[in-house]
Amino acid sequence: MKLSLIAAVARNGVIGIDNRLPWHLPEDLAFFKQTTMGCPVLMGRTTYESINRPLPGRLNVVISRQADWQPAPKPDGSARSLIQYPTSLPEGGDTAIALAPSLHAALDWLDGFEHVFLIGGSQVYTQALDDGLVDELVLTEINHDFDGDAHFPVWDRQQFRETHRISNPATAERPWGFDFVQYATLNNKE
Ligand SMILES: NC(=O)c1ccc[n+]([C@@H]2O[C@H](COP(=O)([O-])OP(=O)(O)OC[C@H]3O[C@@H](n4cnc5c(N)ncnc54)[C@H](OP(=O)(O)O)[C@@H]3O)[C@@H](O)[C@H]2O)c1
Repeated sequence: MKLSLIAAVARNGVIGIDNRLPWHLPEDLAFFKQTTMGCPVLMGRTTYESINRPLPGRLNVVISRQADWQPAPKPDGSARSLIQYPTSLPEGGDTAIALAPSLHAALDWLDGFEHVFLIGGSQVYTQALDDGLVDELVLTEINHDFDGDAHFPVWDRQQFRETHRISNPATAERPWGFDFVQYATLNNKE
């Protein structure tokens, strides 16, 4: 299983404020959707609640230490179903929500999948990078500082090499540019 970490990161490391993204960047939302569609997305409970619905067309795996955590109901008030660890997971790209008790349990659970995206937030990124679990970083590097209360961890750039970069310059409407960048790990996890 390949584990890709995907994040949008400001020049000063900020990734969030008040449980939301600090910027309006539709190109990044479209890139995120296109990149992760059909693959399981793995996230901390806070990030799930900041979106507050499952991302469609993806298996949404939430990690929480609260064994009784439940996703908020649908807008019509009906409950959302939740797959409990370690029940078997659906294959394919159907929308579903699953709950795991830890990052390592979630990764074991997802082992049969080809490609999994770790989509945040700060706590989960930090743990995955510290534990050397990440095969690839897919970063949207925003060339501007933002105020925020959630930060991307300081990561060891010596452990990765840049494999791909697309630069998007500033425009009249958006006075800062951003780059879509991929970094591959130099560590062989085998
Ligand atoms: N810019 C981006 O690309 C991006 C992407 C995602 C999120 N964000 C931002 O990041 C912020 C959220 O990040 P965050 O660090 O506050 O929260 P987070 O990492 O999304 O979630 C933290 C929660 O996940 C659970 N958790 C974490 N590690 C765990 C472990 N080892 N075992 C079991 N459960 C674990 C805990 O839930 P319980 O408390 O329920 O136990 C913990 O409180 C928001 O501002 C969001 O908008 C930005």
